[in-house]
Amino acid sequence: MRKKVIAGNWKMNNDLSESQNLITRLTSGLANLKINCDVIICPPYTSLSEANTLIKNTAIKLGAQNVYYEDNGAYTGEISPLMLKSVGCEYVIIGHSERRTIFKESNEMINKKIKKSLEHGLKVIFCIGETLEEREKNITNDVIRKQVMEGLQDISEKDISNMIIAYEPVWAIGTGRNATPQQAQDVHLFIRKLIEDKYSMSSADNLTIQYGGSVKPDNAKDLLSQPDIDGALVGGACLKAESFIEIIKAA
Ligand code: PGA
Repeated sequence: MRKKVIAGNWKMNNDLSESQNLITRLTSGLANLKINCDVIICPPYTSLSEANTLIKNTAIKLGAQNVYYEDNGAYTGEISPLMLKSVGCEYVIIGHSERRTIFKESNEMINKKIKKSLEHGLKVIFCIGETLEEREKNITNDVIRKQVMEGLQDISEKDISNMIIAYEPVWAIGTGRNATPQQAQDVHLFIRKLIEDKYSMSSADNLTIQYGGSVKPDNAKDLLSQPDIDGALVGGACLKAESFIEIIKAA
């Protein structure tokens, strides 16, 4: 039985004091709940260290939103997996569509980031998803296959057990327009089949596949009740403690 994983991607939101405020509300809101899922928060780099302190002795785990694929050196402005580990990160999001489109990250670069992060013992939330144009052209599966195969190139079966795949249709991110539970389920099943073909049935069965794209308290339950949807990567709705907690409750 796969345990559901709810992750909050804060994106470029919340300065230090806003981060402290949100985490405090979150930890107190979750304190008396019996939580049946894993909960991860991914604040901006500048709040990671403080977040790590504030979530000590809670069920919340820490992730970053991006990483670079070298250990150290002359890469002005970049952050390495070792640095993320040093501030308590257990997870890192790689390949988010905003990184792919705004910052021109290729499947090849994403693959390098995944490898380096796994090498240093970070767990990876690997994001994939098609654009609206691609969906309308009926090439969703081709796009997903290419992202999965190129993103996971030379990643071993053992390493895949330290990864989560997040299916995030680009047309659903931050638009308020989420995929229907059936649309999402179809792609999740397709991804699981790809993993089965590339690795094995047990790797596919054990893989957590999250859905992301306008997940809100009022649609979370329907999405999360699909057999192949194992959690959510939440953007906008994780910025308010109340709505993030409602989504955690739905899981
Ligand atoms: P959204 O973002 O929930 O605001 O659509 C999801 C994401 O980008 O991970």
